Amino acid sequence: MNRITQLFNIQYPIIQAGMIWCSGWKLASAVSNAGGLGLIGAGSMYPDVLREHIQKCKAATDKPFGVNVPLLYPDIEQHMAIIIEEGVKIVFTSAGNPATWTKHLKDHGITVVHVIANTKFAKKCADSGVDAIVAEGFEAGGHNGREETTTLCLIPAIKEVCQLPVIAAGGIGSGQAIAAAMSLGADAVQIGSLFAASVESSAHANFKEKITSLKDGDTELSLKQLTPVRLIKNEFYQTVKMAEQRCATSEELVQILGRGRAKKGMFEGDMVEGELEIGQVASTIHAIRPAAEIVEQLVKDYNATIPLLKPF
Ligand SMILES: Cc1cc2nc3c(=O)[nH]c(=O)nc-3n(C[C@H](O)[C@H](O)[C@H](O)COP(=O)(O)O)c2cc1C
Repeated sequence: MNRITQLFNIQYPIIQAGMIWCSGWKLASAVSNAGGLGLIGAGSMYPDVLREHIQKCKAATDKPFGVNVPLLYPDIEQHMAIIIEEGVKIVFTSAGNPATWTKHLKDHGITVVHVIANTKFAKKCADSGVDAIVAEGFEAGGHNGREETTTLCLIPAIKEVCQLPVIAAGGIGSGQAIAAAMSLGADAVQIGSLFAASVESSAHANFKEKITSLKDGDTELSLKQLTPVRLIKNEFYQTVKMAEQRCATSEELVQILGRGRAKKGMFEGDMVEGELEIGQVASTIHAIRPAAEIVEQLVKDYNATIPLLKPF
């Protein structure tokens, strides 16, 4: 038991990240049933879809699960109302100010975790009364901090400024990497990319196959002028890159991005023109496996790694 397994009442300190177009009730319940904490990614769901996923998740597991809510998306008020009505006990907020929703959620007995990528926001989290923070490094898939601080540097920096339990995220795809994060003082890990490529992920088969084919260097933190996001270097990424090189305005970039790009890529399977979010760790993902098998392997490898860490 540690601070995080106690906080969530879970067996392993392994959290499956909330991910747009990837983490619906099937993935979240599979991870929770395997002893980790599954999160439904609300960011790509209309309010009625979110309600359906929460209800299906409740039916599929009697273990704790949570919902991830990126605060930059529309429908936030409705999402939060549904989360409270449906009796969700754990909420991970991201991409916004932790002060906005934490008190309201906590007043309804919900455990609140906020995702940050720098020490400034870690302090804000502490002031806002969150129960734990996810410290997400530059390697991570999805939206990311502008500072480009890697997980290896971020965790100790966060530990210096805040006493809250820390969940390390970004670049974690093995039991060995979990051991590294825990040895830096993390209490748990949040894993995205590896679960995005799982059997239960709701991502399109083309996207899952693409993830397993990536080499190191095949992703880059892109769209830094708007909202930084780590993308696979496909044709859409190249269009963005060329626009950035000719110093396109934010308005032009918004136009290039258009609407529904992430859905087109990750959910509908357009590997050319879609926005494909994935982390650097994808270069070590070689197979599409059931979530339970992934959790089991992570635990086995973590346990095998610890005795190898001998004193010098
Ligand atoms: C496809 C994809 C979608 C993501 N969507 C979200 C999201 O909706 N909300 C969020 O807080 N983070 C999102 N993330 C970030 C993850 O929650 C997580 O912090 C990150 O994936 C961890 O790094 P890793 O990919 O190296 O495991 C996303 C990541 C990926 C790969």
